[in-house]
Amino acid sequence: MRLRGAWAHEADALAAVHATAFGQGWSAAEIAALVDGPGGFALLVEDEVPLGFILCRALAGEAEILTLAVVPAARRRGLGRALVEAAAGAAALAGAEALFLEVAEDNPAALDLYRGAGFAVVGARRGYYAREGGTAADAVVMRRELGPSPLSTYPGEANE
Ligand SMILES: CC(C)(COP(=O)(O)OP(=O)(O)OC[C@H]1O[C@@H](n2cnc3c(N)ncnc32)[C@H](O)[C@@H]1OP(=O)(O)O)[C@@H](O)C(=O)NCCC(=O)NCCS
Repeated sequence: MRLRGAWAHEADALAAVHATAFGQGWSAAEIAALVDGPGGFALLVEDEVPLGFILCRALAGEAEILTLAVVPAARRRGLGRALVEAAAGAAALAGAEALFLEVAEDNPAALDLYRGAGFAVVGARRGYYAREGGTAADAVVMRRELGPSPLSTYPGEANE
């Protein structure tokens, strides 16, 4: 098993994973545009076949998890947590000081994962996710501090 960066030309594989995790998955074209867009990056866990991925954006000192998906057969083995931790590390290297995300209030698995990974609730968006039957679920906005960039503690930078 390995965790690595994934690229826009792999968007078909990422979209296939996304479709197993969400009723209405994102298309390969949408995913490719986000990976290639400003600050976009994706990380993939695979074991011969793709098992899960995380898609993020790091821009202007802040980063955001845009989506996270693990195929049903590979869940509860720590892959989701590993992807979040790797994304936090990559976002910090890209200069982000905080990592944000939005998660549906009716998604206890993801809420548990994010709480366990050090995210705190900082807001909500009412009726953000459409649900069957014309109802809607709120989005919970969460944030995790990433700490200063590794360069800010580099001795040569300290007195500048
Ligand atoms: C949410 C998701 C990514 C979790 O992936 P995963 O690889 O199973 O997660 P992990 O095994 O790393 O679990 C880490 C922690 O998250 C929590 N968690 C994960 N699945 C859970 C579940 N079904 N019920 C309750 N808590 C759960 C637990 O706290 C777990 O720690 P533990 O196993 O030590 O108890 C996966 O269930 C998924 O793809 N769901 C559909 C898509 C989705 O909801 N994405 C997130 C919103 S953007």
